[in-house]
Amino acid sequence: MDTVRSILANKGPAIWSIAPEASVYDALQLLAEKDIGALVVVSEGRAVGVFSERDYARKVILAGRTSRELLVREVMTSPVITVAQDHSVEECMRVMTSHHIRHLPVLDGTRLAGVVSIGDLVNAIISTQADTIQHLSNYISGSGNYPA
Ligand SMILES: NC(=O)c1ccc[n+]([C@@H]2O[C@H](COP(=O)([O-])OP(=O)(O)OC[C@H]3O[C@@H](n4cnc5c(N)ncnc54)[C@H](O)[C@@H]3O)[C@@H](O)[C@H]2O)c1
Repeated sequence: MDTVRSILANKGPAIWSIAPEASVYDALQLLAEKDIGALVVVSEGRAVGVFSERDYARKVILAGRTSRELLVREVMTSPVITVAQDHSVEECMRVMTSHHIRHLPVLDGTRLAGVVSIGDLVNAIISTQADTIQHLSNYISGSGNYPA
């Protein structure tokens, strides 16, 4: 089973983050620029929350507020739920499902080491399943060569 470490090795070290004192408007601009769905909110080098498109939809738009008047810290999801690099893909899926979240900041001790999304996990699962099917197909098609 893949771990968070192998996902991060594939996707690279980028971590898109924002300060809690930034405006929601600036956060939305960064989300659009990077074509992603969530930012880690970082204060003094520590992950203190996550700001996601869902936070914007529910806590800004539906609440009748505007992105220029609000700060990220007022609408971010906090405390932040994190995983470690040794967590398996399956464990991450469980955490995401039970907390209804789609992005997990990854910690190495207290240091922020990356971010995994639900898309990353689904891609890893699909690719593991494709490998398994390939191995089984090879085994079945080559089984006639083995003594009973
Ligand atoms: N996961 C992918 O590799 C990928 C890439 C492009 C588009 N998409 C599409 O985007 C939609 C949602 O995808 P998703 O669930 O992966 O979410 P997403 O769009 O937020 O994430 C896209 C990629 O950016 C990374 N990412 C997101 N926020 C980050 C952050 N703050 N710092 C560093 N990296 C960050 C994710 O780990 C993922 O690799 C889906 O429709 C998917 O098909 C996914």
